[in-house]
Amino acid sequence: MIMNFLIRQIEKRDFSRIHEIALKGWLFAYGYLPKESLKGLVDEYYSDESLTFSLNRVESGTDFFAVAELNGKIIGFCHVTEENQEGAAELLRLYLDLDYMGHGIAKQLLVNCENFLRDKSCRKYNTFCNKHNKKGIEFYLRNKFLHIENKDKEDEFKNGKVLWHLEKTL
Ligand SMILES: CC(C)(COP(=O)(O)OP(=O)(O)OC[C@H]1O[C@@H](n2cnc3c(N)ncnc32)[C@H](O)[C@@H]1OP(=O)(O)O)[C@@H](O)C(=O)NCCC(=O)NCCS
Repeated sequence: MIMNFLIRQIEKRDFSRIHEIALKGWLFAYGYLPKESLKGLVDEYYSDESLTFSLNRVESGTDFFAVAELNGKIIGFCHVTEENQEGAAELLRLYLDLDYMGHGIAKQLLVNCENFLRDKSCRKYNTFCNKHNKKGIEFYLRNKFLHIENKDKEDEFKNGKVLWHLEKTL
């Protein structure tokens, strides 16, 4: 099936749809965790305030927040920053609407974000992915990320170091 989606930077009018996709993604990836807690975290991480903060960083040139749009509908997004709180480049968010997985769209979003980082002369970047998130881990390994075990960290639920630190050289 050919999907004629386009990729562009985030705009304020995308906020509610991005929140919706993130919520579906979390419930899908972390089905074994309590629903209400997941919803609370997504509401916090994808609040208008949080997304406005990201949009401001896009406008100042430190972040790239790509959204994939199909026939006017947002179907996925990917957010990278050139400089996180530790001064490193990081992939902060990557989600696809469940109905659109398996078409290479996430890969295209990633390529766009990587081009932004390359233009900024970044040589490597990292991300975190929960080790129980099979689809997510498979995606990152398929896209040449390496698992750096000694940098793993705890998730919000304090179940041990379940967040894999993944790193990729550009
Ligand atoms: C992780 C996630 C973004 C990956 O999305 P995806 O659609 O599986 O990834 P890709 O874009 O690489 O697509 C690959 C699939 O498309 C298929 N495909 C079809 N056409 C393709 C094309 N032109 N190019 C590449 N792949 C193509 C591949 O065969 C592959 O299928 P498979 O998974 O059955 O082997 C998605 O599963 C997701 O949103 N998960 C929930 C949220 C999440 O976990 N986010 C990441 C962790 S924070």
